[in-house]
Amino acid sequence: MSEVLLLEKLEGRIGVLTVNRPDKMNALNREVRESLFEALEALRHDDEVRVVVITGSGDRAFIAGADIAEFKDAGAVEQYRSMQESNIYSLMEDFPKPIIAMINGYCLGGGCELSMACDIRIASDRAKLGQPEVNLGIIPGGGGTQRLPRLVGEGRAALLIMSGTLIGADEALDIGLVDSIFPADELRDRTLEIARTIASKSPIALQAAKESILAARRMPLDEGLKFERAWFGLLFSTQDKNEGVGAFLEKRDPEFTGR
Ligand code: COA
Repeated sequence: MSEVLLLEKLEGRIGVLTVNRPDKMNALNREVRESLFEALEALRHDDEVRVVVITGSGDRAFIAGADIAEFKDAGAVEQYRSMQESNIYSLMEDFPKPIIAMINGYCLGGGCELSMACDIRIASDRAKLGQPEVNLGIIPGGGGTQRLPRLVGEGRAALLIMSGTLIGADEALDIGLVDSIFPADELRDRTLEIARTIASKSPIALQAAKESILAARRMPLDEGLKFERAWFGLLFSTQDKNEGVGAFLEKRDPEFTGR
């Protein structure tokens, strides 16, 4: 694994990815993006890992955006291609396992967009979030104009994107940009507690839940309802459904295998 992205495997089941450029506020440069591709590819095929947590190194930043230094000499076509080819945002959204963003500080621009491509956002009470691209004469390019309005509503998204203003964790929780906040010194333990709970469930049910929740955003309601029913039916062919139902009836804890 590269130095700019650390991978820990906790209790076998939780993969923790840490963007490690603390002196640059964990800004996303090409090396980080390529490392994320590689790491997610490895975690996708690691049957032990059931949930992924992504965070930033140090105590100041989750990810303070794309690396602005890389923008300086970039041309239009080159930039367009690089956004298309290394689209970590879609990769994370379509990743078959739940991904939790553990937001430990500045969560800006591409960092905020990356957190929105995760399934769950858990923030420290000291986190600051925003889409400040407009201050650089550009707009969000990693899905911010699309995912933010869907999460917080069009007006609030417009306020954040057009003003470039940063908001604190409390306000982010109020508007639905983050799902939970904890005191900074409890963030890791409390996030891992949530990750552990999720990791104890059936991996195939988690994938079905993730894809069905995404369908709510991607499909008209009637199509989304059909999609959910198809997954629901499919799960009745799994050993995990027999295990889950059997364990309930036998009053014991289930042991899910993902089969
Ligand atoms: N890209 C590249 N470098 C970045 C960066 C980014 N997105 N965000 C921070 N850094 C670097 C700074 O240039 C500085 O590097 P240096 O020490 O070599 O000069 C270092 O990280 C520390 O940042 P600094 O600005 O000194 O810290 P601060 O506490 O005064 O401010 C921020 C922190 C996050 C508010 C500020 O760095 C900032 O506004 N960053 C840019 C955020 C942004 O516009 N993101 C969207 C990009 S599209």
